[in-house]
Amino acid sequence: MSGNSNIIEYIKKTPKTELHLHIEGTLEPNLMFELARKNKISIPYKSIEEVKSAYNFNNLDSFLNIYYQGTKVLITEQDFFDLTWAYVLKCKKDNIVHTEIFFDPQAHVDRGIDFNTVINGIFKALKKAKDEFNITSNIIMCFLRHLDEDSGFKILDKALNHKDKIIGVGLDSSEIGNPPKKFERLFKKAIEEGFLTVAHAGEEGPTEYIWEAINLLKVKRIDHGVQCLKDEKLVEKLKQIQIPLTVCPLSNVKLCVFNKLEKHNLKEILKKGLMVMVNSDDPAYFGGYLNDNLIKIQSALNLNMNEVKTLLINSFKSSFLSENEKNNWISKL
Ligand code: ADE
Ligand code: ZN
Repeated sequence: MSGNSNIIEYIKKTPKTELHLHIEGTLEPNLMFELARKNKISIPYKSIEEVKSAYNFNNLDSFLNIYYQGTKVLITEQDFFDLTWAYVLKCKKDNIVHTEIFFDPQAHVDRGIDFNTVINGIFKALKKAKDEFNITSNIIMCFLRHLDEDSGFKILDKALNHKDKIIGVGLDSSEIGNPPKKFERLFKKAIEEGFLTVAHAGEEGPTEYIWEAINLLKVKRIDHGVQCLKDEKLVEKLKQIQIPLTVCPLSNVKLCVFNKLEKHNLKEILKKGLMVMVNSDDPAYFGGYLNDNLIKIQSALNLNMNEVKTLLINSFKSSFLSENEKNNWISKL
């Protein structure tokens, strides 16, 4: 076997964790069509081929328009269950043993869907994943940063009834012009209520947003963070505190953060000793789930076995699993 096929086998076979995954971003075109038909929601596509050809994005916002349009087919608790269960089956296929998923309740509640409908559908599918496949998970509720902080407070209020299901809060959607500092009071309240915090920062936005996420939102992880190399002081800080960066290579190319995978800075980030790992973000839109992301970035950057292993270990280390659970999995790698 060549070196590369050894590494590919290792990636496929090894138990993995995923830490940056939007459940609404796993809505595959076939399920989108099925739900649109069932729920009598009109979608602007005639065929699955037409959907796929619409998935050409030139930045984050051009993707988000299509992503929010897709969410409109999700109406009932069963729809959220089916969406999540389809992702669980992908986890099983990719040998993901633990996943921490985002959901965007404001995208649903603001079109009349009850918060309970959303969270219960997602939660029941994840419970079944544990019962049937022993796949563990955590749920992180994201605030949409293009909306105002008041809307965030209203959704946080609804989440208080579901503290048993939601481990933390995050920040996603349109980054530029919506800095973390816009949500400082909201995150303070979320922390007081016992939620862990994470935030998308430095996906396409400036390095100041990464500083703000750390200093003002007190995040445990930065989602993306790939812009960090533009600021040496920030790199020093990230290295010193070992705050994880949940990097998503196929997403970054689809959204034109890098013009091709070979230009991705993951290897450079790794070499600087930062706590980084690979994730899939919105795999139904970006052309690949976790194993695809790992295999394609390995090949594009010619990552060696040690580098791949580090990425997989970092992912367990950066999860919200207990220290015992982390060590148990890491000993198996
Ligand atoms: N929502 C879903 N995917 C996202 C991404 N990559 N960045 C920001 N918000 C998102
Ligand atoms: Zn994301």
